[in-house]
Amino acid sequence: MHDDRRNPPAILFLCLGNICRSPLAEGAARAAFADAGIDATLDSAGTGDWHVGHPPDARAQAEARRRGVDISNLRARQLAPDDFRRFDLILAADATNLRDARAIRPADATATLALMLDLVPGRAGESVADPYYGDDGGFAATWDDVSAVASALVASASSG
Ligand code: 4NP
Repeated sequence: MHDDRRNPPAILFLCLGNICRSPLAEGAARAAFADAGIDATLDSAGTGDWHVGHPPDARAQAEARRRGVDISNLRARQLAPDDFRRFDLILAADATNLRDARAIRPADATATLALMLDLVPGRAGESVADPYYGDDGGFAATWDDVSAVASALVASASSG
């Protein structure tokens, strides 16, 4: 089958603030692709602009560190229309992120837009819960979700 996806694939993780869920997803995916020895262009963004330029939330950094991944160098940015041309796949954490992304999708978008958990067997349509207003346990659950997404991405990249 003809496939005009880029090789290496370009994947953008999306949430609201780009300081909790999507930087954790980017960190988990960077680690998983590196472990598998597969090249990929990986990035993250938020639909909102409140935290632009900020590093990930301290609780997200701590959870990633606990799992052996350093995300301290990431900086938040806001989703832009050009992201729909620069990436093959834009993966939203929740249904609100998905709706907000659709609202700025340009007519010539090439990226596929989906929920992160759509890639995980048995979890299509589910959202990655927002841990921002909860306790630290929420960040462990976020990591578990986004690392399942990262594994699914690597599995699909290695199967060609
Ligand atoms: P994220 O979490 O979307 O996973 O980065 C949030 C970060 C900040 C806010 C909400 C959610 N906020 O309201 O500032």
